[in-house]
Amino acid sequence: MNEQPSLYFAPFQGITTKAFREVYARHFFGTDKLYTPYFANIAVDYPLPPLKLKALREQFENGIPVIPQILSKSAPEILWFAQCCAGLGFDELNWNLGCPYPQVARKKRGSGLLPHPEMVGEILDQLMNRMPLRFSVKCRLGYGDAGEIQNLIPVFNRYPLSEIIIHPRIGKQLYSGSPDLRAFGEAFTALQHPVVYNGDVTLPANLQYLKSEFPGINRFMIGRGLLADPFLAARIKGIALNGEETGILKKFTDDLYYTYRNDKKESHTVLNAMKEYWKYLILSFDDPQSVFRKIRKTASYNEYEEAVKRVFDEHALAEINPSGIFPADG
Ligand SMILES: Cc1cc2nc3c(=O)[nH]c(=O)nc-3n(C[C@H](O)[C@H](O)[C@H](O)COP(=O)(O)O)c2cc1C
Repeated sequence: MNEQPSLYFAPFQGITTKAFREVYARHFFGTDKLYTPYFANIAVDYPLPPLKLKALREQFENGIPVIPQILSKSAPEILWFAQCCAGLGFDELNWNLGCPYPQVARKKRGSGLLPHPEMVGEILDQLMNRMPLRFSVKCRLGYGDAGEIQNLIPVFNRYPLSEIIIHPRIGKQLYSGSPDLRAFGEAFTALQHPVVYNGDVTLPANLQYLKSEFPGINRFMIGRGLLADPFLAARIKGIALNGEETGILKKFTDDLYYTYRNDKKESHTVLNAMKEYWKYLILSFDDPQSVFRKIRKTASYNEYEEAVKRVFDEHALAEINPSGIFPADG
């Protein structure tokens, strides 16, 4: 009954890069899958170009499987990418039906496909008997209306998808408002596939709440909660941290920074990547805004290193604030 949950680290375009996944998996425990940010614009029948190949170099990071993700509305493109991934030794491919950004959705990609169950069905029809990998879907409840998923469920149920990850918002919301747990519950009940909950989990207690609301659910994808508190997966699984969190976090941020420095040529690219990540990590500290002010204004490696030293000298780690939709603790 108390089986450990499966915990997946959600993809973030521009943040959970190959370097990030590698460094994260070196320092933290508890996650069961790592997802790549989405790949798009794959040229069918051509080998993957060097940058894409580099981003797909590892099928595991410190033993944790990496799952590539594709954003596409073209069955031949998805199939070709799946074949490339199979050739590289990957096990599973994830289809992005959740991206909410209007420039993507307008072209009926990401969550823009959700109001068109017949198109989703046609794509799956062309794909599924030739798909060389396990194939999972990451979706929202709809693009303009949370009822859209009701028409997708019979389509999904026709195919042997390995998992369906649901972020219970609609595309139009982007990340505003609250996850719609009632609509999530209806989809969870009606889907015949393993369902993964994704949205606003920031504390171990949130999982207890979800498990009590949706008996049988035991797979969770966590994004911002893990970016803000990289120990969250270990905390959920009860892995002992022995009060060493501050030291591990410092080593992790240093490791990430030097890995980016080795990888990227321009100092402003490295600093921008680190600042993008610090926007989330500040929530691990007391007075997050003061932490961000220190990091944000740095313009050189020396300034950045000095700012990080001050952050760790002057700030203590703090409890992450609960997100609001879940009871605060339990
Ligand atoms: C900046 C940014 C980039 C994202 N990139 C991706 C992506 O490439 N693929 C994807 O499926 N989801 C992407 N997401 C969505 C997250 O994976 C996740 O579903 C979302 O943050 C909700 O989960 P959370 O509340 O646990 O963070 C992105 C979200 C943000 C804010």
